[in-house]
Amino acid sequence: MDLALTEVQQMILETARSFAEKELLPIAHQTDKLGQFPQAQVRLLADLGFLGIAVPEAWGGAGLDNLSYAIAMEEISAGCASTGVIMSVNNSLVCDPIGRYGNDEQKRSFLKPLAQGKVLGCFALSEPGSGSDAAGMRTTAIRDGDHYIINGTKNWITNGKEADICVLIAHSDPKERHKGISAFIVDRRVSAYGIGKVEDKLGIKGSSTTSLVFEDCRVPVANRLGQEGDGFRIAMSTLDGGRIGIASQALGIARAAYREALVYSRERQAFGKYIGDFGAIQEMLADMATEIDAARLLIWKAAVAKDAKEKYGKLSAMAKLYASEMAARVCTKALQIHGGYGYVKEYNAERHLRDARITEIYEGTSEIQRLVIARETLMQYPIG
Ligand code: CAA
Repeated sequence: MDLALTEVQQMILETARSFAEKELLPIAHQTDKLGQFPQAQVRLLADLGFLGIAVPEAWGGAGLDNLSYAIAMEEISAGCASTGVIMSVNNSLVCDPIGRYGNDEQKRSFLKPLAQGKVLGCFALSEPGSGSDAAGMRTTAIRDGDHYIINGTKNWITNGKEADICVLIAHSDPKERHKGISAFIVDRRVSAYGIGKVEDKLGIKGSSTTSLVFEDCRVPVANRLGQEGDGFRIAMSTLDGGRIGIASQALGIARAAYREALVYSRERQAFGKYIGDFGAIQEMLADMATEIDAARLLIWKAAVAKDAKEKYGKLSAMAKLYASEMAARVCTKALQIHGGYGYVKEYNAERHLRDARITEIYEGTSEIQRLVIARETLMQYPIG
C-alpha cells in the first residue's frame, strides 16, 4: 500500500484540520454541555463539500475518494465528535447507498440535495427489539398500489430530529427473514413520520439520537431503493462503508485526547519534575501514540480497498473494531494522565472518553465486528 497522500488528499487533510481548529475546537465543549446541534458548523461543512465527499460532482458531491473521506472524518472528529457523526451518517449511511443503488431520478431528487447539504439524512435500521440482529426487525412496508404503507418504530437514529430524508430498511414480506427486507428513501416532508423519544446520552451530545415512529406512512413505490428483497444486502453493504467513517471518528477522538494529555504532561509538575519525565507517564504516551498510528493504517487500508473496488467488509470491520477499542483505551489513559483534572468538566479528557465509548457500539458493536471478521476469515479455510 502506498502511504503517500496525493496533492488533493493532502489538501483535504489541511482544509479539514484548519476548519476543525478554527470552527470546531472553540464550540466542542459548549456543544457537549448544552446538547446543542452544531447547525452553523454543519452548514459550513456543506460549503466545504464535506457532506457528500465521495459523491460524484454531477450529483452535487465533492467527487473525491474514500481515503479523502476517512482523512476528513479523522480531522473533523478531532475537533468535535458530535459534528463527526453527523457528517459520517450523511456521507456513509445515506449518500452512499443512494449513490450505489438509486436510479437517476432518485439521485436527482435526493442524492444531490443531500450531498450539497441542502437537506440532512438519517439511516433507519435498528429497532427497539433488534440491534445486532438486524434481520429480526418488525417494521413493515406493505405494498398498496403505487405506495408502500410503513408501520413500526426505528431506534437509535442519528440525525433523527434534523433529517428530512431517511434511508429506511423494512420488511416488505414479513414471512421471510432477510430475503423479505427492502430499502426505501422516505422524504419526511412528503411522507410524514413522527419523531419519538430523543435520547439523553453519555456522549456525542451535540448530535440527536431519536426513535422514528411510522404509522400508516405512505411512501411512493418510486422511492424504493433497488428491488424488493434487496434491502438487507443494501443495509449490510452500507454498514461496511459506514464502519470506515466511525473508525475514523474514533481515531480523531483518540488523537484529540492524546494531544491534550501530551501537552498536559509537559506543563504539570510533580515531585519537582514535569510529569512527562516520569517513566509511568511515558509508557502510557508511547502506547497511545503507537495505537493511534496502527488504527490509522487499518482505516486507510480499508478505505483504499473500497476505492479500488476490492472486497473490504472484513477490512472495515477490523478498522472499526481496533480503532474504537483503541479510542476507549487512549481516552482512559488521557484522563488518567490528567489525574483529578481529567475527571472534571473543566478539561476535555472526560468528554473524549464519553464520546469514544459509542464508537464501540454503533454501526455494529465490537462483538458484531469480531463475528464479521471471524466468519470471513473462516470462510477462506473450508473444513476438512
Ligand atoms: N454485504 C452484502 N451482503 C451481505 C453482507 C454484506 N456486508 N453481509 C451479509 N450479507 C448478505 C448475506 O450474503 C446473506 O445473503 P444470502 O442469503 O443471499 O446469501 C444475507 O445478507 C444474510 O446474511 P447473514 O446470514 O450473515 O445474516 P445474519 O442475520 O446472520 O446477520 C450480521 C449478519 C453481520 C450479524 C448483521 O445482522 C449485522 O451486521 N448486524 C449489526 C447491525 C448493525 O451494524 N447495526 C448498526 C445500525 S446503524 C447505526 O448504528 C445507526 C446510526 O445512526 C449511527
